[in-house]
Amino acid sequence: MYRPLGITVSRHIMDLQRMHPEATGDLSGLFNELIVAAKTISAEVNMAGLADVLGMSGKTNIQGEEVQKLDEFSNNTIKKRMARCGYVCVMTSEEEDDIIPVSEGYEGKYTLAFDPLDGSSNIDVNVSIGTIFSIHRRKSDDGEPSFGRRSTDSGDEWQSAGDEGGSAEDLLQKGNRQVAAGYIIYGSSTMLVFTTGEGVHGFTLDPSVGEFYLSHPDIKIPGKSKYFSVNEGNYTYWDENMRCYIDYLKEQDLEGGRPYSSRYIGSLVADFHRNLISGGIFLYPKDNKNPAKPSGKLRLLYEAAPLAFVVEQAGGRAITGDGRDILEIEPQELHQRVPLIIGCRYDVDEAEDFLSGKR
Ligand code: AHG
Ligand code: MN
Ligand code: MN
Repeated sequence: MYRPLGITVSRHIMDLQRMHPEATGDLSGLFNELIVAAKTISAEVNMAGLADVLGMSGKTNIQGEEVQKLDEFSNNTIKKRMARCGYVCVMTSEEEDDIIPVSEGYEGKYTLAFDPLDGSSNIDVNVSIGTIFSIHRRKSDDGEPSFGRRSTDSGDEWQSAGDEGGSAEDLLQKGNRQVAAGYIIYGSSTMLVFTTGEGVHGFTLDPSVGEFYLSHPDIKIPGKSKYFSVNEGNYTYWDENMRCYIDYLKEQDLEGGRPYSSRYIGSLVADFHRNLISGGIFLYPKDNKNPAKPSGKLRLLYEAAPLAFVVEQAGGRAITGDGRDILEIEPQELHQRVPLIIGCRYDVDEAEDFLSGKR
């Protein structure tokens, strides 16, 4: 049986750390704990039909959505493991109304925002689902360098590291200040894809060994899309500019590569990953379907911002469609929703022209 002799994700993380002699190893430690949680969830997902984790938990989350058993399992797996890893000071999860404190004495210098299981509607029908995560440095930190992206905002003063737990303020930071972000997709294989600001790398889990091996080094999104991903069931709720853009993608212009093919799985991670590898644009725009959700369905902190960091590092772009880049948004609340248009830079730029009424 072919067994990859390649680089394990732990080796890759250590190589990254070695490139930053001043690094303390805390981010490496955080990643290693998160990877254990990912492997645990992957094992459960792959047994979902047998392990009594299908179906509803009988609970409803702050989003007003029914919580599936696998949502709850994934949430608890990450929450419990990361609360005592010693590298995180506070967390937020799609499945938790308020911030998640870490265990006393285990406060670290990073924050973690996560969607424990993305694509819940697909759990019971055996379609790919995923986990999305976003890591910032706590605001009250002495700013020791760690491998990864430094803040692009100038003039930010980091206070001295406190040993108290973090706060919502530590979580409500712009996407362009993420230290690392990525996702795990539980699909035909389980893959971990992440960036620390030095490119995007993909690792595939060999379940017989329990190791993630580097399978997709330095991922770059194609320059132009061949797929568009949007829930056209919402067409009637979109504004005129959005409808014009989707109609445009479906017109015949063989020179221009149109009509694009439509692919929509209903799991953001799966739609995003296909577009990242093969070239595509994903859209979950604002709509007037639900007055309670005027900014669309997706959440900034643990869906849009982490994937925006990944796509930008892979050469793509992510915007809201109302003039803002996702990574520039100053978050106001933990579960804040934003419209998301994300994918190949050419197509996101073109979509922006349509959505701003220029086309
Ligand atoms: P989650 O399961 O974490 O709530 O996320 C589901 C999201 C996202 O994965 C997907 O793109 C979107 O819901 C699909 O929404 P629609 O079914 O409204 O198209
Ligand atoms: Mn989600
Ligand atoms: Mn979810």
